[in-house]
Amino acid sequence: MRYQAIIFDLDGVICRTDQYHYLAWKQVADELGIPFDEQVNERLRGVSRMASFDIILERYDGTMSDEEKIHWTDKKNEIYKSMLTQMGPDDMLEGVADTLHKLRAMGLDLAIGSSSRNTKFILGQLGLSDFFDAISDGTNITRSKPDPEVFVKAAEFLNRAPAECLVVEDAEAGLQAATAGGMDSAAFGEIAIRSGLGTWNLERFSDLIGIVA
Ligand code: BG6
Ligand code: MG
Repeated sequence: MRYQAIIFDLDGVICRTDQYHYLAWKQVADELGIPFDEQVNERLRGVSRMASFDIILERYDGTMSDEEKIHWTDKKNEIYKSMLTQMGPDDMLEGVADTLHKLRAMGLDLAIGSSSRNTKFILGQLGLSDFFDAISDGTNITRSKPDPEVFVKAAEFLNRAPAECLVVEDAEAGLQAATAGGMDSAAFGEIAIRSGLGTWNLERFSDLIGIVA
């Protein structure tokens, strides 16, 4: 096989949580009177919570203390988490459940590599708490994508060399992180594909089967 392990981003690859991130940030930005739209939101894909807020604050007409920043990022997370409580296994993206099981049957190691500190909660909502061989997330990294740390840690947890791993990503920052970590990547979603940063492009999630074989 071409690869021995696959490391999946979570938000926007396994499930639709990227939309909830947008809606929660929008509420916070509206309350602060900061212009925020889908275009700014695209820059937040793969980026940590605080780094995302710093990007939103580029359009803020004022200054904000570190304490205030913590207040607003906590508030965003509360809004976001209340949206997550309504999620279930049906919120996996099309073809994900079936493809994951086929990849597992092919003998591949499967891991998550996500910047999110809510990763384990989301996997629980999706019914995937015990599915992956390793989880590397926002709780075990100090540097956010495009830094490769989250993927390098995932490969370490699996005892795999970077060259054995394929990363699946919907974010430009995530595709850059994979390359920086010495890993091939599969771009998923219109924006990631358009960036041209992936080793492969996924029109459908199930295309992964042909790529790894
Ligand atoms: C990434 C998302 O997966 O997680 C980002 O693409 C998000 O948009 C980041 O900011 C951190 O998420 P959380 O759940 O820790 O706030
Ligand atoms: Mg993502």
